[in-house]
Amino acid sequence: MADNKVIGMASDHGGFAMKEYIKQKLKEAGYEVKDFGTHSEKSVDYPDYIHPLASEVNKGLLKRAIIMCGSGNGAQMTANKYPNVRAALCWDEEQARLARQHNDANIMSLPGRFIAFDLAWKMVQLFLNTPFEGGRHLRRIKKIPKILS
Ligand code: RB5
Repeated sequence: MADNKVIGMASDHGGFAMKEYIKQKLKEAGYEVKDFGTHSEKSVDYPDYIHPLASEVNKGLLKRAIIMCGSGNGAQMTANKYPNVRAALCWDEEQARLARQHNDANIMSLPGRFIAFDLAWKMVQLFLNTPFEGGRHLRRIKKIPKILS
């Protein structure tokens, strides 16, 4: 069973600096961070770091995770290959809030090269503290995995 105080993090080189900043902020706020890498600015392939994290979220071993790449897109696309993952690409506070209220997102993907780090931290706090509204939104997210043949 996932411990709500443990937050997963992963990025490629494009999100590395933001990952390190947010990791420090999370630790100061009393969270434990499970860091799946990358661990430097050296160029890497984002799926190599996002897959191991998304697999743990998919299995219910991690409840919430924050991922980054340069744009946030490649990281989000990789994570959303897993049926129990709902990864939301967010770039402002309202997107972070809505990703929780309406989509019950369990992963937030951030564009490490396009938004300020202090804004990213505000968004992370919203992502971690905003409840899912349920109701009609629950009906909708239940339909997400039902792909047509
Ligand atoms: C790396 O240059 C960049 O392509 C990557 O971080 C990401 O933006 C991909 O979606």
